[in-house]
Amino acid sequence: MAAARALQLSLLRLLLLPPLLLALLPSPAGALWPQPQAQSFPPGGGRCPVLARRFRFAVADGSAVGPGCAVLDAAFQRYWPLLFGRTTENEPSWETPCTKLLVYVSTPGCDGFPSLDSSESCNLGDSGDLQYLLLMAICPTSCSHLPCVFCAQYYINETEIVDFPRFPHRGLLLDTSRHYLPLKAILETLDVMAYNKFNVFHWHIVDDPSFPYESSTFPELSRQGAFNAMTHVYTASDVRSVIEYARLRGIRVIAEFDTPGHTLSWGPGAPGLLTPCYIGKAPSGVYGPINPIVNSTYQFVTSFFQEVSTVFPDFFLHLGGDEVDFTCWQSNPEIRAFMAETGLGEDYKKLESFYIQRLLDIVSSLGKGYIVWQEVFDNDVKLRPDTIIHVWKENNLQYLNEMANVTRAGYRALLSAPWYLNRISYGQDWIEAYNVEPLNFEGSPEQKALVIGGEACMWGEYVDVTNLTPRLWPRGGAVAERLWSNETVKDVQDAYARLAEFRCTLLGRGVQAQPLYVGYCDHEFGGV
Ligand SMILES: *[C@@H]1O[C@H](CO)[C@@H](O)[C@H](O)[C@H]1NC(C)=O
Ligand SMILES: *[C@@H]1O[C@H](CO)[C@@H](O)[C@H](O)[C@H]1NC(C)=O
Ligand SMILES: *[C@@H]1O[C@H](CO)[C@@H](O)[C@H](O)[C@H]1NC(C)=O
Ligand SMILES: *[C@@H]1O[C@H](CO)[C@@H](O)[C@H](O)[C@H]1NC(C)=O
Repeated sequence: MAAARALQLSLLRLLLLPPLLLALLPSPAGALWPQPQAQSFPPGGGRCPVLARRFRFAVADGSAVGPGCAVLDAAFQRYWPLLFGRTTENEPSWETPCTKLLVYVSTPGCDGFPSLDSSESCNLGDSGDLQYLLLMAICPTSCSHLPCVFCAQYYINETEIVDFPRFPHRGLLLDTSRHYLPLKAILETLDVMAYNKFNVFHWHIVDDPSFPYESSTFPELSRQGAFNAMTHVYTASDVRSVIEYARLRGIRVIAEFDTPGHTLSWGPGAPGLLTPCYIGKAPSGVYGPINPIVNSTYQFVTSFFQEVSTVFPDFFLHLGGDEVDFTCWQSNPEIRAFMAETGLGEDYKKLESFYIQRLLDIVSSLGKGYIVWQEVFDNDVKLRPDTIIHVWKENNLQYLNEMANVTRAGYRALLSAPWYLNRISYGQDWIEAYNVEPLNFEGSPEQKALVIGGEACMWGEYVDVTNLTPRLWPRGGAVAERLWSNETVKDVQDAYARLAEFRCTLLGRGVQAQPLYVGYCDHEFGGV
């Protein structure tokens, strides 16, 4: 899988430019986004003319995987039209190819899933180090019957690129509970994630407002909990499509089933699961978080997560654990009695911990790792040492203290607090996201090494399929570059030029990405 991932990264790196446009590019580096770790134009380096019809991707000799590798073949098929457009005059011909882009893959495996440990390094045009991947454009030296130089549509400048991500976990959260996002919108977002080198799709699939996940073990959950059980659900086949589509793009799918709070939509399909809230001595008819004091809860949770852990192949599940509202628990006399009996007293954080610890044990026993929101750490729940803590609380720069605290305790950390892209403001708010430095907290090098990355979040209160794409892109790109590129890449002017150009590229690929500021693209959305 490392191979496929790196391939996806690298094909984009080709400096494939229509010759007439060269002079117009605002950025001398060729407007790459995110900025590669190292890119140079060797002195005296040539230019390689390219005729789209006679350009091929091919597997280099000695590559660990060859033709027939689904991940590789799919990448070749995707990138040809991305590079040359879909016009028929460009269609690959059966004539002998003149320009080949040779792909060398050193890691076998076309059928596996990407993981946190997948290598994503690559070298382009650097023959010195074949450790992971070598992509090399072979210029047409022997196609003498083709007047290459004069009919070339494009040129590739000879370029050396060495690239690898700064952080291994670069995620995007989509919320499909507050609004249902059609399958097609999710798949299209995965495409744009890949262009931005995001490699984790954090699927916040259910929450209070709706339960669109169709469970095979508990089909009543979506029947009763989805906005519409026929149309606003993700079937088993939809979920498989998302996972496979993501896999072919080197993207992991991490599902979040947030408990014990944020579960109101689970209630109708799982009687007895939620805590009945009381007014005085009588149940009020309203329900609160999952009821942590009855055994049936844990039987349910065990069966449910058994299913989820086989449906989602990634090692990690996101277990939520945020924003548990204690008022309902406090109102319930049985819960108060349980707390008195078990010595928890009035400390509802301890009751939350009681639930979460059992949940974590259940999920561990299913062979899965877990990510939790920061409250689980803040509330001193006993955690496995390999737990990942997801930092989301904004209040000014407190999140940096939280990052320090989490890593001081020896846990790995993911940052989202400054990257809630659902929040918008007038002006260029991408800059604020761009200027974030995730390691800018007091701590030892060992602590900094525990920061595995971050996630941009698109919560769904005010977002559905009508505004998802423009709100996400290119603003999400700011987070993508921060997580991919060297920490020294932070010149906002240079970033503006490259991001504006990248956004034009997205329009060319049919992505309705909103503008950064005043300007134009050669090819506007909808075709100019
Ligand atoms: C490609 O090389 C030509 C000169 O050979 C140069 O003028 C041009 O700026 C280069 N393009 C990029 C994107 O670096
Ligand atoms: C719940 O489970 C615990 C431990 O398995 C057991 O001791 C207890 O009797 C059970 N309670 C009920 C009401 O079944
Ligand atoms: C970090 O830990 C310190 C010391 O325990 C505590 O005072 C502080 O409130 C914590 N910071 C955050 C953001 O939780
Ligand atoms: C990041 O860039 C700096 C300055 O160019 C360089 O010293 C450092 O080695 C780079 N970091 C990595 C991981 O390549």
